[in-house]
Amino acid sequence: MSLRTKASYSDEVTQREKENLEVAYRAACEGIVLLKNDGTLPLKTKKVALYGAGASMTIKGGTGSGEVNERHSVSVLEGMTDRGFEVTTLDWIENWERLYAAAESAYQTEKKKRINILKPSFIMEMLMDNFRAPCGVIDARCVERSHTDSCVYVLSRQAGEGGDRRAEKGDFLLTDEERESIRFCAEHYPHFVLAINAGSSIDMHFAEEIDGINAIVYLCQLGTEGGHAFADILSGAVSPSGKLSDTWARQYTDLPFANEYSYLNGDLEKEYYKEGIYVGYRYFDSFGVAPAYPFGFGLSYTDFTMESCGVSTEGSAVAVTANVTNCGALYSGKEVAQLYVSPPVGEMDKEYQSLAAFAKTETLSPGESQKVVLTFDMKDIASYRERGGVFVLEAGEYVLRLGNSSRNTVPAGVVRLEHEVIVSRHEHICPLCEPLEELKAPNRAAEFLPAELPCVTVDTAAFETVVYHYETPAVCNDPRVKALLDTLTPEEMTDIVVGAGFYQPATGFTMPGSVGNTTSKFWDRGLANVALCDGPAGLRVQKISVEDSKGKVKPVEMPIGVFNALPAFIRRFMVGDPGKGKVLYQYTTAFPVANALAQSWNTALMAEVGNAIYREMKEYGCTYWLAPAINIHRNPLCGRNFEYFSEDPCLSGTMATAIIGGVQQEEGYYVTVKHFACNNQEDNRMKVSSNVSERALREIYLRGFERCVRKGGAKGIMTSYNRLNKVYTANSYDLCTKVLRNEWGFDGVVMTDWFATRGREQSARAMAAGNDLIMPGLGGNKKDILKGIHSGLITEEDVRRCCGNVIRAILNSATQREFIG
Ligand code: BGC
Repeated sequence: MSLRTKASYSDEVTQREKENLEVAYRAACEGIVLLKNDGTLPLKTKKVALYGAGASMTIKGGTGSGEVNERHSVSVLEGMTDRGFEVTTLDWIENWERLYAAAESAYQTEKKKRINILKPSFIMEMLMDNFRAPCGVIDARCVERSHTDSCVYVLSRQAGEGGDRRAEKGDFLLTDEERESIRFCAEHYPHFVLAINAGSSIDMHFAEEIDGINAIVYLCQLGTEGGHAFADILSGAVSPSGKLSDTWARQYTDLPFANEYSYLNGDLEKEYYKEGIYVGYRYFDSFGVAPAYPFGFGLSYTDFTMESCGVSTEGSAVAVTANVTNCGALYSGKEVAQLYVSPPVGEMDKEYQSLAAFAKTETLSPGESQKVVLTFDMKDIASYRERGGVFVLEAGEYVLRLGNSSRNTVPAGVVRLEHEVIVSRHEHICPLCEPLEELKAPNRAAEFLPAELPCVTVDTAAFETVVYHYETPAVCNDPRVKALLDTLTPEEMTDIVVGAGFYQPATGFTMPGSVGNTTSKFWDRGLANVALCDGPAGLRVQKISVEDSKGKVKPVEMPIGVFNALPAFIRRFMVGDPGKGKVLYQYTTAFPVANALAQSWNTALMAEVGNAIYREMKEYGCTYWLAPAINIHRNPLCGRNFEYFSEDPCLSGTMATAIIGGVQQEEGYYVTVKHFACNNQEDNRMKVSSNVSERALREIYLRGFERCVRKGGAKGIMTSYNRLNKVYTANSYDLCTKVLRNEWGFDGVVMTDWFATRGREQSARAMAAGNDLIMPGLGGNKKDILKGIHSGLITEEDVRRCCGNVIRAILNSATQREFIG
């Protein structure tokens, strides 16, 4: 059978590319957070001195599987130049680029020497990219030659999968050289703007100690259009409207159990989630710790007022209407209304408040107002009481707080609940294997609330306790699925539940750069093979590949930058020569990283991002997008925080759900929400056990996933590398079956993370747990499953169930419709 691909033979810029770039630009603008401004921004001049590692080599996204191979990314320098700024420090930037090139090449040489492909750890070593860009020196001569009083310094940080960030200089903290450069610029330029080009927070202590930093902009990592978006913020063409998706601590040690995280306590095998539910602002606000910048915080060039115009209820839903007015005189802008709820102090230990709903306004001109309605369901803020296994809403007063950050709210109303409500009854899941002493919040004093505050009572009759039933689901009985399933031998079933590997299949459908495929072996029996591609900052495919005379497709450059460290002979084997075959093109868009997307707090925009990704999936034939990634930012050092949305499950789940709506708008295009669950550490991620209480697990770490499944209708889930209370998540019946299918009604495919099941019994156990697909798939995985059946570890029925789920998804896929019918 000949090659089938949807890649293009032309490299011309298409209309779709242009339209998606425009979405990426708006997402970048709204992902920027203005942290400080004394009026310096917007800049009053277009003549600017630009310094820092992020100036011309602006980091568009993190490293590893989250890298997107876009046509071109706009740096800060390019963006400013395109928008008419005169950058007066080009000589400094050129010098710095020379320094960078030398340091990078020395790093690569050293890395190549270090990597030993015979060691099993080599993939991890390769993925870990801890190259640190040089700083460069700024002196009085630079200032003099720059002929301007306005300066922008772009500080940058890189991180990626396979390794956590370090709580040290050059990573979470500034190096001495960076600190000195910033201090020097702050002293010598009357108008000094610091821009932070890092995937997640850094230590901000220095900003309190250095005088003369007039404005601080958190750029995050903004994808292709970051440079343009930043330039438009600098000039005032766009007013910042991003809000932090995390609390930024004044210093790392302000976080709970900071020095026990990941590598810091020397134990990479076990991670104890001692803070329990007190993650992020839930900790800072409940324990009275002052942050550098609170969750939800972000300035604008204009000012807003926000008033509550009433609270109403319908059943268990509560709605607060807020009137937001741009009360400034000069700039238009958008504001985010945020609604937090403080639960009553009852028998259970509870957080001071949690985010329940939010809404972003349209662009409001000076004087203009907009009413937004913030709605949430009381059931979604219930607490999990381990005793009895119930989600409960304790009786008492729930205070609604309206504002524009977790630390800037006013009470907007009270919801009274006369009696305790049992929202749902559960079987216990993921038991702890050893005792875990969790943090308890100090007693909260009763709060004085204004007498005129609107008070509504939610009738406890509005709730009906949901009692879950836990049964192993039946094998899919869709007649089309059954027809094929009934003809398959156990060996053939393993071909379907184990992916077909990294490489492009020789027969069937080919999507260059897909990171996995299902088997094409059954194409002639009416089952297509489907392609799986990474995210989350867009669709990661191969932008240029070559199809040789034998129909083999190879990329013309390494699929991930960090793979360049592989020995030359492997690289030669992996990449193709464009001179020796037909060249195929696939251009996709690098969107801002998930942390920046979350900072937009704009769900309508997320639906547009999802739609843009869907269009690219459709154009090139991707069935599973391996995103969104919604692990909680438990600690700022997690190497993959840039790929995840937030420390808060409501914000993460809501933003991800909006993206899912865009991607899954047509039957047969699927998201894969990952990494399920508690993949909050990258060092030793394949082995570490996240030891978490059931309460914290259900209230914090699963809640975002729950929203993606229940409200978003997600059709794919990827289990994680880590263990959860000592059990590999792919082997966890509790997670893959009880929670996902019995409780949330998930009816899609659960797949492993790449190479997560390594040998022995793991692949077989995954089948019994309800993890349907082993990715990317090795011959050994199939043998392990068959061995599992023969030894009685699992049943043939277990494999049939998983196989049925995979077949159903493929038969419903667009690839199946398009190629087989
Ligand atoms: C990552 C996943 C990714 C997969 C495929 C793994 O290393 O953890 O997030 O989807 O690779 O590239």
